[in-house]
Amino acid sequence: MTLTLEAIFSDFDRCGERSYGEQVSQLEHMLQSAQLAVADGASDALVAAALLHDIGHFEEPEPADGADPGTDLAHEVRAARSLATLFGPDVWRPVALHVAAKRYLCAVESGYLESLSHASLASLKVQGGAFTDAQAARFVALPYAQDALRLRRYDDGAKQPGLATPPLSHYRALLQGLLAPTAARDAEDIGLGEF
Ligand SMILES: [Fe+2]
Repeated sequence: MTLTLEAIFSDFDRCGERSYGEQVSQLEHMLQSAQLAVADGASDALVAAALLHDIGHFEEPEPADGADPGTDLAHEVRAARSLATLFGPDVWRPVALHVAAKRYLCAVESGYLESLSHASLASLKVQGGAFTDAQAARFVALPYAQDALRLRRYDDGAKQPGLATPPLSHYRALLQGLLAPTAARDAEDIGLGEF
């Protein structure tokens, strides 16, 4: 699917109030992720990745509409494919890898798995669980793996009920500045086949 910025903003309007399965909505979760990226001194591209990392959930049916929580709906791949029609790999690649980053951290960082929220733990199961040593080695050698790990930290921290954040419109100019008309339009090679 080819995206436009306007389509992204209207998707947030249409779906942002949906539950994220935590104490925050999808919109609150992504605004908090972007705010954590800014506070961390992340590049504009990584702030955009944080802001948009879960737009793949917008294409899923709401749980009340019959989605099967036992199915991996690969929201990160859908989001990356869409984002690659608008932005460069410094935005879409960390998004593509943000689930792999969780599987990596579960494998290599003691205490990380225990720190995950209930919803993240539940999704980990259907996403394939912690990486093996070989998978972890493959992941960390990928381009943008370090940015994906930073994004993962923002993602994990962005679940605080009632936290004040700037609105989505605050990021419009930043997103406009990242539009990359020469970016690869064919995002078939998202690069996750190795897992
Ligand atoms: Fe997320």
